[in-house]
Amino acid sequence: MNVADEARAILKENRRFTNGHQYTLPSPSTYPYQWLWDSCFHAIALCRDEPDAAKQELRSLLFRQLPDGMVPHITYWEPGDLHRYEWGLDGVSALTQPPMIAYAVWEIYRRTNDADFLAEIYPAVFRYYEYLLTKRDPLDHHLVGIINPDESGEDNSPRFDAMLKVPLDISFSDHLKRRIELIDANRACNFNAETCMHTHFWVKDVPFNSILVKNLQILAHIASVLEKKEDEHTANLHADLIKDAMREWMFEDGVFWSTMGMDYEKLRVETWAHFAPLFAGLYTPEEAGSLIDRYFADPETFRAPHGIRTTAKREPSYRPDGYWRGSVWMAPHWFIYQGLLSYGFEKEAQQVRELSLGLLSDAGFREYFNPETGEGYGAKNFTWGALILDMMES
Ligand code: GLC
Repeated sequence: MNVADEARAILKENRRFTNGHQYTLPSPSTYPYQWLWDSCFHAIALCRDEPDAAKQELRSLLFRQLPDGMVPHITYWEPGDLHRYEWGLDGVSALTQPPMIAYAVWEIYRRTNDADFLAEIYPAVFRYYEYLLTKRDPLDHHLVGIINPDESGEDNSPRFDAMLKVPLDISFSDHLKRRIELIDANRACNFNAETCMHTHFWVKDVPFNSILVKNLQILAHIASVLEKKEDEHTANLHADLIKDAMREWMFEDGVFWSTMGMDYEKLRVETWAHFAPLFAGLYTPEEAGSLIDRYFADPETFRAPHGIRTTAKREPSYRPDGYWRGSVWMAPHWFIYQGLLSYGFEKEAQQVRELSLGLLSDAGFREYFNPETGEGYGAKNFTWGALILDMMES
């Protein structure tokens, strides 16, 4: 089977139905639940061949939206789901994940022209972004905060070591223990950003805010199609405000850095977060050009024989088999690919696509990969590789 057919087959194999809800497991053995940004990736990959399945994926994702608009990062559909963590909520996590929902909705709409779907899903989608803009930016600083590393989608990234106060050689299991302690602390203060941020974990993350800017711009397009003028204005306004705030608080030495705490201390660890702002058009063309030379093409930082590292090689925390501490993941590849294309870096974008294809055809649809050797690790039948369907088309 070629890689594209394998991607389509995994999306079908991992599909589940519970009480009339349809969703896709990222990996049946390792991640037997529904996950927020994973479902958005599934919808992006499915919308060309199976648009109805893509719509169902987003409907089920939004079904367990909380009354305040928050969309949980995990939904446990089956009562017997393995390795469940008790979040203090009924069957869902109390954390969220990078806000890719508007992007996924728009991908479905632009292929199907189904305005009824847009109108049906819009209120829940808009409420989710309203939640982020208010509850996760309680002081109106125009940067949205995360209250746990898992909300970044990059669970043990060394970007968060200083905030978590963990050593750079921390083991995977000790890191997990630390994050679970943090969830207990989050729960003790009722997952309230304003209370949690002072005492536990409060990070303004570059990928999360870049993804938010892009998604707010798309939300504005959706509002415009639905002739909701005021919402269109709100979404565009906040996209611009966040853009400006990112430049003010995060930009230094030609790149964007995530920050921690109330005084925006920069988390100076070189990770793929440097590339994420390309996705939202936050670099000038000149800055993007120098990012390519200094980071994308540099074998000492991000460019490895088999992919783009998630942590730069020269970082002391770098581990090629270290999960988010250096290994290659398909979602960052996809964000970098889209970002490069949007700036007209065709050659570099094709390199990312070829590297992705190489990993998937040699190591299979694994969760993450060794950038130096191409070896695959972690979950099997992992759906993120299906993003290749989107890279093969654009
Ligand atoms: C891992 C990843 C996270 C993803 C989840 C399910 O925890 O770090 O980003 O959503 O697996 O695939």
